[in-house]
Amino acid sequence: LSSIEVDLSQVPVGQAVTVKWRGKPVFIRHRTEEEIKEAEAVPLGELRDPQTDEQRVKKPEWLVVIGVCTHLGCVPLGNKPGEPRGDYGGWFCPCHGSHYDTSGRIRKGPAPLNLTVPDYAFLTDTSVRIG
Ligand code: FES
Repeated sequence: LSSIEVDLSQVPVGQAVTVKWRGKPVFIRHRTEEEIKEAEAVPLGELRDPQTDEQRVKKPEWLVVIGVCTHLGCVPLGNKPGEPRGDYGGWFCPCHGSHYDTSGRIRKGPAPLNLTVPDYAFLTDTSVRIG
């Protein structure tokens, strides 16, 4: 399937889902107010792959990224409850220690780039089409 539709109505604030799209995991996180503020407050100069949070989301409460580390392709941890989210509250790649923030941007470790934002569109407030 080249595109999929995901119902987000059952994903509480602070939690996330992983869906499969074109053979890859896609992480969809329902961000808290705090996570959004954190993501928006980071100065671009602190970022290895400078992108504002605004450039990476369509609705601030939902972050949609491909769950593949940009170093060597492992699936980062942090999408399931109880998994480590790294030093910046987003995701942590256990393969070689890359830390991503609440916007999925690389902050520490060997990965060169932010987690990729796929093409997507909201169909309703709680339903999204990826691809
Ligand atoms: Fe993620 Fe190397 S594959 S840090």
